[in-house]
Amino acid sequence: MSIPLSLTVNGKSINTSVDPRTLLVQLIREQLQLTGTHVGCDTAQCGACTVHLNGRAVKSCSMLALQAQGGTVTTIEGLAQNGTMHPMQAAFRECHGLQCGFCTPGMVMSAVQLLKDKPQANEQEIREGLEGNICRCTGYHNIVKSIQLCQSGKVGTATA
Ligand code: FES
Ligand code: FES
Repeated sequence: MSIPLSLTVNGKSINTSVDPRTLLVQLIREQLQLTGTHVGCDTAQCGACTVHLNGRAVKSCSMLALQAQGGTVTTIEGLAQNGTMHPMQAAFRECHGLQCGFCTPGMVMSAVQLLKDKPQANEQEIREGLEGNICRCTGYHNIVKSIQLCQSGKVGTATA
């Protein structure tokens, strides 16, 4: 059985139909081929699948696609505007906030939400804000530095 589903993804209207059991991350990766959103655990622990739904960061592996009915989704592919990286993406690049990059899309989406909720977050609050995102490579230090650089508005000025 397929159920009609309409939503907006990265500014584009999508009209499709899905099996009711389809997860939001499956819709994003398999139907829409937006493979920047990763699946690291499938059990809502790692945060690699984080996207924004109606302006809030959600773990797309733990939601049904139909829960996004009528909604607006932004994935990592939708963050850049007119070919220019979002300042958070630029900050991650500048501060080497990634190694293998597997966690990075989810980390960036969560980081954008974090600063939206708490623009003045201190280091401790940034670390706490990332508790839903696991990185197995970086030790988090450069991820925190990246978020602080973005927060400072000085992207483009960091020295490695
Ligand atoms: S894949 Fe969704 S939290 Fe890990
Ligand atoms: S950069 Fe490899 S898991 Fe985070």
